[in-house]
Amino acid sequence: MNNSPKDRLNILKKQIAEFSYEYHVLDKPSQSDAVYDGLMAELKDIESKHPELVTSDSPSQRVGNEVSKGFSSVSHVSRMLSLNDVFSEDDVTNWIARMQKLMPSQNNFSFYADVKKDGLACSLIYIDGVFNQAVTRGDGFKGEDVTDNVRTISSVPLRLRNVKETNKFLTGRLEIRGEIVMYKKDFITLNEQREKSGMELFANPRNTAAGTIRQLDSKLVATRKLHFLAYDILPENTRDISTHQEVYELLSSLSFKGAEYGAQLTDTKAISAYIDKWSQKRESLPYEIDGLVIKINQRDLYDKAGVVGKNPRAAVAFKFPAEQSTTIVKDIFVSIGRTGAATPVAILAPVKIAGSTVQMATLHNDAEIARKDIRIGDTVIVHKAGDVIPEVVEPMIKMRTGREKVFHMPINCPECSAKLIKEKAGEAIWRCPNLGCPARSQKHIEHFASKGAIDIEGLGEKNVVALIESGLVKDQADIYALTFEQIRKLDRFADVSAQKLIDAIKDKKNPPLERLIFGLGIRHVGIQTAIDLANTFHSIEGLQQASLEDIAAVNGVGDVVAESIVAWFSDQKNQELLDKFKNLHVIAKHAQKAKGPLSGLKFAITGSLIEMSRDIAADQIRGLGGVFQSALGKDTDYLVVGENVGATKLKKANEYGTKQVDEKSFIKMLA
Ligand code: IVH
Repeated sequence: MNNSPKDRLNILKKQIAEFSYEYHVLDKPSQSDAVYDGLMAELKDIESKHPELVTSDSPSQRVGNEVSKGFSSVSHVSRMLSLNDVFSEDDVTNWIARMQKLMPSQNNFSFYADVKKDGLACSLIYIDGVFNQAVTRGDGFKGEDVTDNVRTISSVPLRLRNVKETNKFLTGRLEIRGEIVMYKKDFITLNEQREKSGMELFANPRNTAAGTIRQLDSKLVATRKLHFLAYDILPENTRDISTHQEVYELLSSLSFKGAEYGAQLTDTKAISAYIDKWSQKRESLPYEIDGLVIKINQRDLYDKAGVVGKNPRAAVAFKFPAEQSTTIVKDIFVSIGRTGAATPVAILAPVKIAGSTVQMATLHNDAEIARKDIRIGDTVIVHKAGDVIPEVVEPMIKMRTGREKVFHMPINCPECSAKLIKEKAGEAIWRCPNLGCPARSQKHIEHFASKGAIDIEGLGEKNVVALIESGLVKDQADIYALTFEQIRKLDRFADVSAQKLIDAIKDKKNPPLERLIFGLGIRHVGIQTAIDLANTFHSIEGLQQASLEDIAAVNGVGDVVAESIVAWFSDQKNQELLDKFKNLHVIAKHAQKAKGPLSGLKFAITGSLIEMSRDIAADQIRGLGGVFQSALGKDTDYLVVGENVGATKLKKANEYGTKQVDEKSFIKMLA
C-alpha cells in the first residue's frame, strides 16, 4: 500500500503547488500554514533521504516571492531581510551560543524581543518628516510601490511628530519598517458583511491585509480597516540610534503604533519568561501573531554579525508550535475502554505537533469515520491543541492514489471476541458487553491507579500490562496483595523500582473515600459525583447499602447515575472486589469537609486561565468547600471567564443570570 518515495514526492509537489497558487496568487488559501508546512516538511524529508529525486520544479527550490505586475517596482535602499525560524527554547539557547562564539569579546550584549505580527511587511519612506513612499518587501531587493494604498491607512502618520526626541530625524530621509495587519475583530466584521451580501469569505486576517494592499483601487483599500505596526527605523546616519530599545522608544515618539510589547531582555531566563508570557497571552492581542522576534539589542553588533542567505544572523523568529500538521493513516485499530466502548483509533506516521510526537489519534466511532471519509492510507490533517487528545480533522482527498482502504467496524471485540453491541438504538458507540474482557479490566486498573483516582506512583499503562500479563493482577484489589519478590521477578523491574512500587502501593492503603469511589470506575461517576456521594454516605458500606431513592436524592445525582451506581453494587463480581479490599485492609478514610469560604457555591470555568490549569482551579474550589462544574448550568453561581471565550458561553451565562468573574477576581476569592 505504501507509495514509492518518487510517487509520494509527485503527490506532494502537486498539492503544494496548488496551495502555493491559492496563497500567493489568489491570496485565498484553503488551508492553514501549518498544513502547508506539514506537507513541505515531508517533501524536504524525502528529498534529503533521496537527493537524486530533487528536481528544479520542486517547491523546495523556490527562492523569494516575485514582484507582481500592476505596481511599479522600487529598489530598496537597504535589503529587506527575513528571519530564521526557531521552534524551541533549546533552539534559542543554541542561537545565543552561536552569537557568543561569533563575538567572543562582546559577551555583554543584551536582547530585544517583540511579538511577530502576522501581516504584510512594508517600508515607509519619509522625506523631511513627510510621508513620501510605501514599498512592499517583494523579493527583498525590489518591492512594489503601494504608496497610494498605504496612504489610506489611518495609523500611518502623513507627517512625523516633531518633539525634542524626534527632531533630529526630521530632516532628510527616514525609513520606517513594519507590518500591515488587519485586526481580528475587523476581519470578522468584514467576513460577516461579505456573507450577508453573498460574497466569498476571506481566509484569514493576514491574507486579507496582503490582498487589500495589492489591490489597484485605493478607494477600496480605504474602506478596509488596516493598521501599520512599526518595528524598525533606518535613519540616514546609523550612529544616531544605538539599540533596538531606542528604536522602539523613538517609534512611539514619532507616533507609530506597534512598539507596545517590545522588551529589552538581559539573559536566557528573561527570554524564556517572555516566550512563556506570549505563548499564553497571544490570543488576547487584537491582531494575529505567528511567533516572537528576538534580536541582539546593540545595533552595531547586530550589523557586524552579518547575513546568511536572506536572514540576519543576529535575530531569530521564535515560532509558536503549530497545532496542526499532516501525516498518513497507516492503520486503524479498535481500542476497548473501561466501559467497553469500542473506539477506532488511527495509527499515524509519527509527526511532531505542538512540541510532541503524535502517533495515534482517536476517530471516535465508525459513523464519524464515514462522515469524514477517512480511509487507511489517507494523508490527513491532524490537530492537537495543548493537552487535548489529537484529532484527525479531515482527509486530503486530492492526494489519494486509489489504493486507500475503507475501514469497517469489526463484528467482535478484538480482545475477547464477544459480539459488539449498541446499548440503545441510534447510539453511535459500539461496546464490548463482556465484563470480564481483559482489555476492560486493564483499563479499570489503569484508571484506579491514575493520578485523578488513587494516584499510585509508578503504576502507569506499561506496568499495569506487565502485572496483568504475569498473572499477578486481575483486578484493582490484587494490586494490594503484590509482594516485593513478585514484582522484582518481572523484566521491567529492578530492586529499587520494585521497592518503590511496593512503597507507593502501601502509601495508598487508606485513600480518601471520594477517590476510592471514583477509582472503582462506576459508569457516570466522575470525581465531583464521588465527592458528593462520599459527603452523603461517609463510607463504602454506607453507599453500598443506600437505596436508589437515597442516591438519587443526592444533590447533582440524577436517575441515570443513581441506577448505574445501584447496578454496580448489585453485581456479584463487584461485591467480591469490595470484600477483597476489606480482607487486604484497604479502608478508605473520610473526613467530612469543614465548611469553607466557598461552601455551597458552584463554579464553572470558560476560556483558558493564565495563572493556573483548570484542574488546579477545580481542586482549589473544592478545597474551599465549593463545587466545580465541568459545564455552565442554570444552577452555576459563578462563571470564571478566562481568555479567548466564545460569545455563546457568555450569552448563556447572561440568560441564566450567572455572576461572571474574571481570573483576577476569582484568584482573590481563593485567597
Ligand atoms: S524585526 C530581518 N520585528 O517578520 C527582519 N520583524 O519573518 C527583522 N515581522 O521580515 C525584522 N513582526 O516582516 C521584526 N516585531 C517584529 C516583526 C517582524 C513581524 C515580520 C517582518 C520580517 C518577518 C520575518
